[in-house]
Amino acid sequence: MAHHRITVLPGDGTGREVTTEALKLLKTVEENSPISFEITEIPCGGQYYLETGKEWPTGSFEHCRDNSDAILLGAIGWPGAMKPNGDLAGGQVILGLRSGLDLYANVRPIKLYNGIQHKIHGEFKQVWSPGLVDMTIIRENTEGLYQPLLSRSAHLAKGEEYIEISDIEIPGVVGEFAWDPRPISRIGSERVIRFGFELASQRSGCPSDGTSRVSCIDKSNVTRGCQLFRSIYHEIAAEYPDINTDEAYIDAFTMWLIRQPEFYDVVVVPNMFGDIITDLASTLQGGMGMAASANIGDNHMLFEPVHGSTPKRAGKGQVNPIAMLSSVQLMLEWLGHRKEDADALLAAQIVESAIEELISIGSPLTYDLGGSASTSEVSSAVCKLVKKHLSSHYASV
Ligand code: IPM
Ligand code: MN
Repeated sequence: MAHHRITVLPGDGTGREVTTEALKLLKTVEENSPISFEITEIPCGGQYYLETGKEWPTGSFEHCRDNSDAILLGAIGWPGAMKPNGDLAGGQVILGLRSGLDLYANVRPIKLYNGIQHKIHGEFKQVWSPGLVDMTIIRENTEGLYQPLLSRSAHLAKGEEYIEISDIEIPGVVGEFAWDPRPISRIGSERVIRFGFELASQRSGCPSDGTSRVSCIDKSNVTRGCQLFRSIYHEIAAEYPDINTDEAYIDAFTMWLIRQPEFYDVVVVPNMFGDIITDLASTLQGGMGMAASANIGDNHMLFEPVHGSTPKRAGKGQVNPIAMLSSVQLMLEWLGHRKEDADALLAAQIVESAIEELISIGSPLTYDLGGSASTSEVSSAVCKLVKKHLSSHYASV
């Protein structure tokens, strides 16, 4: 019987609310399948920092590193929660885990389910067609503008020395300035781009005509880091002759993404550009309430909804739990693959069909999808369907 150690980090605001619903779903899976979970919940984030002066209890990083098969995170970030040095309070949790556990691929599926209405001009309409939006954006997750030590130090390394940033002269820049270096390395690029090609080899291609394609999105007409990223993309692409290549600059890509999402299968993109385009791309799937993600490294993995802590909705029980429930689905899928657990793979499929079924029925759904149900009503409806499908499966075997 498969046993999975899950570390749960509820974090801030609505992250905590959707985490409660994720735990409900894990309990449903556990009660209706042979899978068992050992769950450790650790408080953390900006609100915890404001209360305690710490981002999370001592030893939490080590627990995530040494005692977890997977980590499930709600959301990090709270108004006013900033450390004296200007760092996001809670940043150690999310950015520290991404870099500290080497979670180099941030996997963000963009899939539009049948029945989703898009909120455009304040009204709900169907704009994009289900079946024609199904891509996965792979965001580089440990380098670029998020490189934690460099951006924190406000110093520039030169050989062994560190030069005070104020001693550097940059043409056209006068007076006080801030500096966010954006390192992009060969190794960092190779592994995440290869991850994209491997994923494309397993998927069934882009929705328009089934062509397998990896699109490289960058700003290589201007920046050196992106030039390296693009040239490594070509090197890796040569190893995968059956997968089509496609290249675009990030600015033009934002237009193509909205105009012809059916063209995209797998997209690889440097860190900060990936942060921005995945929020934009979530519009195609019904908004941030639908956007799930997996942070994957060779030895560790962390799952989280893409949305933040949504302070203005926090405490009201209104937000859409589906992004989190789909993140649990991704977690079950990855646990299934990595630990060769067929039950977890099946549970992942059942969670996805339950979400699809609920959306096609159209109720109960939260405000962002045109409904008026609460967070917990939606997740209870998903859990009920999951229970039904799991129990009928295990009754018949
Ligand atoms: C995300 C978030 C994070 C990021 C924040 C909370 C640091 O926006 O996961 O997309 O920028 O990566
Ligand atoms: Mn983001």
